[in-house]
Amino acid sequence: MEIIIQPTPKAASEIAARIVARVLQAKPNAVLGLATGDTPLLLYRELVRLNLDWHKVTTFNLDEYVGLAPDHPASYHRFMWENLFDHINIVKKNVHIPNGLAKDIPAFCQKYEDAIRAVSGIDLQVLGIGTDGHIGFNEPTSSLGSRTRIKTLTQQTRQDNARFFGSEAKVPHHVITMGIGTITDARRCLLLALGTKKAQAIAEAVEGPITAMNPASILQAIPVAKIVLDEAAAGQLTKADYYRWVYDNKPDWQKL
Ligand code: GLP
Repeated sequence: MEIIIQPTPKAASEIAARIVARVLQAKPNAVLGLATGDTPLLLYRELVRLNLDWHKVTTFNLDEYVGLAPDHPASYHRFMWENLFDHINIVKKNVHIPNGLAKDIPAFCQKYEDAIRAVSGIDLQVLGIGTDGHIGFNEPTSSLGSRTRIKTLTQQTRQDNARFFGSEAKVPHHVITMGIGTITDARRCLLLALGTKKAQAIAEAVEGPITAMNPASILQAIPVAKIVLDEAAAGQLTKADYYRWVYDNKPDWQKL
């Protein structure tokens, strides 16, 4: 794992955007896994500003709420179009987001997995992290080998996401999410975390044991994982000075 600590959310998001941009520049038909939530907002804004060529890019989003139509204001479909896809030259048929209205959810999930395989897998998976360590919507105790499937949200996640719905009662209980196994099949992962609210989950994920109790900790076990943090999210790391030294002393070509 490479831990990159930046002074501000903006600086962290710009580094994350450069990592994504590098992938698109090296492989114009790259396959990206994308995340939602407050965390990637500045990253997506920066990607739009960079004015990259997305016309051959394919994307797969991590998750969606069961029962929400694509045009629901809190749906991840709506989030992705408003915050990224409407502002870049991506081709609509290359965008994949789980369908919260799927009638046969297991069949839909299998098709999602098949679609990822059909494009030879994900080149770069962008991730945020929940305050309980979830990635996608893989809540604590999710199987570390899980595939795309339906999951039930914890009360903590429903509380955390109530701000998007106006009240906790309106937050769906069920979601479709890529599994942890689906995520870790990606050729590389980039996890962005911002703010003190994420500091404990990050410390456990980076410096604790690999455990289903903190799904993000599985990133310790994959070949290429970059964890980009602002100072607040890095606040509980015991080896932060070491991570800073490593990053500051890298040759420029190796920095991304
Ligand atoms: C959400 C999403 C995750 C996201 C996480 C953190 O519920 N399913 O993909 O990384 O929780 O969200 P935020 O960035 O808003 O803190």
